[in-house]
Amino acid sequence: MIDGYGRVIDYIRISVTDRCNLRCAYCMPQEGVPSVCHEDILRYDEILRLVRIFVSLGIRKIKLTGGEPLVRKNVPEFAAALRQIPGIEQVTLTTNGVCLKEQMRMLADAGIGGINLSLDTLNPVVFEKIARRPAFDQVMEGLREALKYPEIPLKINCVPMNIEGQNIVELAELARNYKIHVRYIEMMPIGLGRQFGFQSEEAILAELEKAYGPCRPFDKPLGNGPGHYVSFEGFAGKIGFISAISHKFCERCNRVRLTSQGFLKTCLQYERGVDLRALLRGGASDEELRLAVEKAIREKPVSHQFLREQWADSDKETHMMSQIGG
Ligand code: GTP
Ligand code: 5AD
Ligand code: SF4
Repeated sequence: MIDGYGRVIDYIRISVTDRCNLRCAYCMPQEGVPSVCHEDILRYDEILRLVRIFVSLGIRKIKLTGGEPLVRKNVPEFAAALRQIPGIEQVTLTTNGVCLKEQMRMLADAGIGGINLSLDTLNPVVFEKIARRPAFDQVMEGLREALKYPEIPLKINCVPMNIEGQNIVELAELARNYKIHVRYIEMMPIGLGRQFGFQSEEAILAELEKAYGPCRPFDKPLGNGPGHYVSFEGFAGKIGFISAISHKFCERCNRVRLTSQGFLKTCLQYERGVDLRALLRGGASDEELRLAVEKAIREKPVSHQFLREQWADSDKETHMMSQIGG
């Protein structure tokens, strides 16, 4: 469907849980987020009903997110059920990789269309400093497992934090040696991300060009999100950037979000949207749900305002990134 600013919305990020088995410093508090009780989380059959409604409004692509999606039971089966909905063209997953080794085969069998793996560093000590859990080896095993499925596009998400030893150049080696796209994400001032500064695309690119020589722009999209890419000579994969601050991409936004508690969020930075769980469980018909979704999408905010010092709007996001799903 087309929103109030003429943007085609055909992509939804569905968070299946707000729990996570890591505690990345920019995303999840050390003590975790207050536990949401089981009944407050949408059941899979509820999400499937909503997705049929989204499809009737033009949604074609789904990203499964968390927290960490793979800590919820039966995610591969759920992904397969989503893929079977007529009109859904692609279901992809963003994961921290901790449970990927065990679940990769099932995800492949479910027809997953792509895996994005969050990995901020190849240094195990720095990994543990950032993720605050000793899970580096498990994540690397997950990565190796994912590499066994060359037909499934694989990307790495790295949020540069400007900390000693993170070594973003070393991480780019993955794109040199394997058909992996390595993306650098500018830290966004959402939740705990507000405490940290962002390292700009220009700064990262300068470091990479110093190590690997000049890059060439790569003009095709690789996926459904806001990343843009460049090529380096001799690299098997691309290098990508998600630069919400220095290269704002809101005018090309094609997506909305469904939180694990059933709130349809129409922009990452705002609490604007509609509580679909309340409607669903209050007995709304498909048509009533459709109208509510349509109205929310029509009213989708024009853009984020990360750089505004004073966030005047009363509905600016107050949740943690792990509760939103990135
Ligand atoms: P593909 O392009 O299909 O691989 O997926 P993606 O990049 O959309 O998904 P992923 O979950 O890997 O997200 C990567 C980063 O992009 C995360 O940090 C997200 O928070 C960020 N991101 C995704 N959508 C938006 C958006 O609408 N606005 C902003 N500001 N950031 C976004
Ligand atoms: N800014 C930018 N990216 C973030 N992520 C989590 N929190 C932030 C933030 N404040 C990233 C994770 C993951 C993706 C879903 O979102 O690293 O790769
Ligand atoms: Fe968990 Fe991802 Fe947040 Fe890290 S960034 S705490 S892996 S949800």
